[in-house]
Amino acid sequence: MQIFNLGMIGGGTVGSGVVHALQVNGDLLASRIGVKVQVRRVAVKALDEPRPYEIPAPLLSTDWKSVVNDPEVHLVTELVGGTGLAKEIILTALKLGKPVVTANKALLSAHGEELFAAAQQHHATLYYEASVCGGIPIIKALREGLVGNQIHRIYGILNGTCNYILTRMKREGGEFEAVLQDAQKLGYAETPPDLDIDGIDAEHKAGILGSLAHGFWINPSEIHVEGIRTITPLDIRFAEQLGYAIKLLGIIKRSATATTAGAPRIEVSVGPTLIPKSHPLASVEDVFNAVFVNGDIVGDTLFYGRGAGKDATASAVLSDLADAALDLKMGTKHRLPPFAPHALKGAVIPHPEVCSGHYVRLSVADRPGTLAGIATIFGELNIGISSVIQPEGHEGSSVPLIFMLHDSPHGAVQRALDRIAKLASVKAPPVRMRVESLE
Ligand code: NDP
Ligand code: HSE
Repeated sequence: MQIFNLGMIGGGTVGSGVVHALQVNGDLLASRIGVKVQVRRVAVKALDEPRPYEIPAPLLSTDWKSVVNDPEVHLVTELVGGTGLAKEIILTALKLGKPVVTANKALLSAHGEELFAAAQQHHATLYYEASVCGGIPIIKALREGLVGNQIHRIYGILNGTCNYILTRMKREGGEFEAVLQDAQKLGYAETPPDLDIDGIDAEHKAGILGSLAHGFWINPSEIHVEGIRTITPLDIRFAEQLGYAIKLLGIIKRSATATTAGAPRIEVSVGPTLIPKSHPLASVEDVFNAVFVNGDIVGDTLFYGRGAGKDATASAVLSDLADAALDLKMGTKHRLPPFAPHALKGAVIPHPEVCSGHYVRLSVADRPGTLAGIATIFGELNIGISSVIQPEGHEGSSVPLIFMLHDSPHGAVQRALDRIAKLASVKAPPVRMRVESLE
């Protein structure tokens, strides 16, 4: 059987997972695709670093250039992370015409357009299934399975670490910091974990999905991002009582109206969102991710799986390695390029113009006139209130007051909250979260 040699750069959580997965299922993969992928060398930073799965010492090197340039290496994986060295590794391999498989969403988000252009220029292919939602084959689903659809809506639980933290906070009322440390021990979190908690990792993934679905590269600076730091067990409990779960949700929606040039207008955002407990996304827990995709022909679809961790992510890398090895075997480029621009340069809708429902929690002085003062400000900004709740059983100098707002522009709600925060009766910065019916 024909053998293609793999040069791996990075042998940490994901890299060692790939070595292990090929040890376990390499023969199965070969019997399915008719060609064998064999690890030839693995470049790491330090030879004696402990790894989730042991990598045989003779395979290890600390010189990534010699691995990429090795004429016996036919395929390259970049599993280092970051946007500096990783970019150099990928460009070096592509210039040599070698297919590259990466899991690096931060790099793709920042430099995807340039990297895909380089791949095209050098007649090589850049694969990135593992960059979004770990083991869920969502890139392949959008690129191949749903290629005949105009994509209307994507809702994604895109970050395993945040979903794990929110799940444990809801289940056990766990403390944020302690739960985060567990996510780090399990190999889910980025370095630094702020990338997860502040929503940046989900932003990278939402940008990749939006670009793939709508055919123009979305600049990360145009994506509105909020993380999960401000979510308290109190909000999780109130949301639950109101019939909602809180999820860090990536939202990509195509507007019904196009730009004057006929290009798509897309909303892309990431933030903590209240979603109905009855929706399947609400029951996605722990490190699991899920992506709901609505296409004009197919209707609703839902993809679910582990969003992070050594084995799930290795599964996605193996899928790309199979595609890359088949390309080499057939002497062809892949039938569908991993990213093909297909739309006029579209526009990302500015976030202040985006409309949705809102959950607002205020800490207020429990005295006459408080509610009227707040309601007046919402009214002056034309924001409709769908319900107001002052939960029983809270005593002290301030009490919680919850507002559920009708669909209103995010800019107007922010302006209202800026004014409300200045009222003498309001004792702490307002907490606001989006509410989505997911219809
Ligand atoms: P790790 O930190 O576990 O691994 C990084 C690897 O890169 C290590 O093996 C490290 O070497 C190696 N490395 C660092 N610098 C160099 C260098 N100069 N030369 C050669 N090797 C180097 O990261 P992960 O495996 O978690 O993540 C890798 C990529 O996968 C990232 O882009 C991440 O975003 C992405 N990803 C991660 C997921 C996860 O669940 N962890 C899921 C999906 C994507 P050494 O071992 O000696 O330290
Ligand atoms: N840190 C990421 C997460 C890894 O928690 O989802 C998978 O991309």
